[in-house]
Amino acid sequence: MSGAADFDAGRLVETCRAALAESSPAAAVREILTRAIERPSSVLRALGEPQRSEVQRIHVSDELTVINVLWGPRMVLMPHDHRMWAVIGVYTGREDNIFWRRLDAADGPQIEAAGARSLGPGEVLPLGTDVVHSVTNPVARLTGAIHVYGGDFFARARSEWDPETLREQPYDVDKNMRLFEASNARPGPV
Ligand SMILES: [Fe+2]
Repeated sequence: MSGAADFDAGRLVETCRAALAESSPAAAVREILTRAIERPSSVLRALGEPQRSEVQRIHVSDELTVINVLWGPRMVLMPHDHRMWAVIGVYTGREDNIFWRRLDAADGPQIEAAGARSLGPGEVLPLGTDVVHSVTNPVARLTGAIHVYGGDFFARARSEWDPETLREQPYDVDKNMRLFEASNARPGPV
């Protein structure tokens, strides 16, 4: 069969849920998400052009989270971990990722920059359980991405790192969700 089916959020959730029974759910979800967003225009048709910065919950359970992340123009999220596998797929705009390595430091920075990956439409990034990353939307309009996590993204206790001192602290999910709302209140992009 040639040509992928049109994007369908419900089908994406069902195939991801089925993938949880496989020996490597993260690898299976990587393939599923790659196929689901390979035609970004199909995703845009199904989900609509991003209108505002927000995190739309498509599916949230103890085992699986599927969210539509709409990044505000030039929005930045500080370094954080997830403590579960994740797969990210961009369908419009761009997500720049910095990857951080943990340092065994009692004083001073507790992470250092270790790599980077920029994702454009149709590109998929798998993240291992221990990955620490920070994310920027480098463009002056909304970026849209489907994020899939192997657990409850909103409930899992985890860490973030102060972007100035690079010191570890508990992840504050409410504060991070408010950043999306704050992005909508900002004057137009520059
Ligand atoms: Fe993340």
